[in-house]
Amino acid sequence: MKTGVCYYPEHWPESRWADDAAHMKRLGLSVVRIGEFAWSRLEDANGTLHFDWLERAIDTLHAAELEVVLGTPTATPPAWLLARHPDMLALDEQGRPRGFGSRRHYCFSSRAYLGECARIVTLLAKRFGQHPGVIAWQTDNEYGCHDTVLSYSDNALAAFRDWCAHRYTDIDALNDAWGNVFWSMEYGSFGELPLPVGAVTESNPAHRLAYWRFATDEVQQFNRMQVDILRAHSPGRDITHNFMGNFVEFDHHTVAADLDIAAWDSYPLGFLARDDADAGDRKAYLRTGTPDNAAFHHDLYRGCCNGRWWVIEQQPGPVNWAPYNPAPLPGMVRYWGWEAFAHGAELMSWFRWRQAPFAQEQMHTGLLLPDGSEDIAAGEVARVNEELPLFADLDTATRTAAVALLFDYASDRAQRTHQPGARAHDPLSFTQDVHATCRRLGVDIDVISASADLSAYKVLLLPTSTLPTSTLDDADLVDRLRVCAAAGTTIVLFPRTGSKTAEFSIPEGLPPGEFRRLIDVRVVRVETLPPTERPQAAMVTTHAWRECIESTLEPTARFDDGWGFHYRDGATHYINAIPDRRGLLTLLEPILSRAGLEPCDLGAGLRIRRLGEVTFAFNVGPETVELEGRLPASAGLPASGPLMIGERMLAIGDVAAWSRLASSSHDEAAHDPGQKPPE
Ligand code: GAL
Repeated sequence: MKTGVCYYPEHWPESRWADDAAHMKRLGLSVVRIGEFAWSRLEDANGTLHFDWLERAIDTLHAAELEVVLGTPTATPPAWLLARHPDMLALDEQGRPRGFGSRRHYCFSSRAYLGECARIVTLLAKRFGQHPGVIAWQTDNEYGCHDTVLSYSDNALAAFRDWCAHRYTDIDALNDAWGNVFWSMEYGSFGELPLPVGAVTESNPAHRLAYWRFATDEVQQFNRMQVDILRAHSPGRDITHNFMGNFVEFDHHTVAADLDIAAWDSYPLGFLARDDADAGDRKAYLRTGTPDNAAFHHDLYRGCCNGRWWVIEQQPGPVNWAPYNPAPLPGMVRYWGWEAFAHGAELMSWFRWRQAPFAQEQMHTGLLLPDGSEDIAAGEVARVNEELPLFADLDTATRTAAVALLFDYASDRAQRTHQPGARAHDPLSFTQDVHATCRRLGVDIDVISASADLSAYKVLLLPTSTLPTSTLDDADLVDRLRVCAAAGTTIVLFPRTGSKTAEFSIPEGLPPGEFRRLIDVRVVRVETLPPTERPQAAMVTTHAWRECIESTLEPTARFDDGWGFHYRDGATHYINAIPDRRGLLTLLEPILSRAGLEPCDLGAGLRIRRLGEVTFAFNVGPETVELEGRLPASAGLPASGPLMIGERMLAIGDVAAWSRLASSSHDEAAHDPGQKPPE
């Protein structure tokens, strides 16, 4: 793994650049991302280009043997460009323009803006595409940040009508697909179609799901335009984009398919303060982040570009944008570096080099303080870089874990589109809970898309597969699952699986629709519940959503009112209510065990991850953990002797790692259910 930093040479006097570069080297960094917001310094209103300073910046970094990831500046169109194309702005749901004065003030459907982006990206790619210092490109910056995927502009309306005309060919097909006969919503032509906004009560969910799919295609098209230009003019350089955390506003698998590397921006404390609904988590992990949120995204993005992924922005200290912004526990900056390494990252890059003394992010820390002296993070980053050579010989090639969690963005959207009475159930949080449960049980896990190769896994978990297919024309998921089931793979389906057709209707034969070919269950009633109601079956407490099942199978347990819970046919399971976290643990432990894994409850804040022959252990509390006796045998903790890094008494915010080859306590080769090489 390389380490790097995000740097803004345009924020600092040129006389500092060489010192900054030398300082980065002293901290052991080797990669620097620059340029992604610099448009106003690259081109002026008269069309004059000012690329020389950027060339000198790249030269300076290159001379210091730092590798450059160059960002395209399309997230920050300058004021003069907006004056040229006033209708390039996105409009919000109320029809108000998303105005100038920060960033991301563009509509993906503005063809004029697309043209301007193609122009500036071409110019940059031609000028810097073959520079020996440039190793990779980042397209734009965080597609969708600040709620910018959907726009309700005239440009978006026209593009959506075209998209529908292309998708459905004739308007009656669209009316049929969406069920527009309901409430006389039928259209006579594509030109009559509105955007799904401003209706008296909710718009047709099929209409809203279509708009989300359209939006994904708009992001994909915008990104692909840049990728095509960069590939043409910058051969041999990787192309990435920095995706976000806890973010499902477009299908990332679709957009990432055009990239070489999926990068993401990791802000564990910011995400916890902003997104986590659980008050207990917010308190317990205030200064560390939860044990599994960053790991979920590492696993998710590893599954987006054939195993190639980066953390391109990593929280270095307090940030500025969450409801509150605490300082990380000392050691966490290093911990996050190792956590990414353990999950197979090729790059860990901290955001940002030096805290900006001006503008929006002046309260956001960096590796340096605004005066250029080192902040706390600098020392922790240097320490990671001092320790990394210990792993120089480790084979970090991506291996397939034994367990995969299938995450489907369109299905997540389908659930969000229609959540009558169950707002307490957030599909992404539930997916993360399933993932976290496996990690708590000491099992490594991949997060994959519906179109990924399923054949190498012992266990497949489908927490969110509402739709039978992730794209409208791919129908083979259930067929592929049947092949896996026949080969003995354990398959676990959760509520709402297959509950909608690809066009958002209840499937013929009732839910789980296509998935009924995997297990004989038929959902004949659904109820949603307020937070006060928590039906229990056996030892499992559930909430929010419960399904009544007809089946020839006997349920594994029953609720008090006689509804069955948890249907099983061989190694295929259907879970028909939403278990809470404790319930997931109770439920998944025997399922993983029967699948030949070795689940072992690590407790609240201890986690392990295997990479090649090394096992890493991480602890976010609530107390120091004695590793001996706490880990599954497959973790291979040697009976004695020093570890590669860290201690057997693992403090909060600390990491330990050891080679399983050093283990004398058991035969590693004969017993490693945690990972297996790709078949
Ligand atoms: C990211 C963004 C960066 C910076 C950072 C602050 O979302 O990509 O440009 O704003 O947040 O934490």
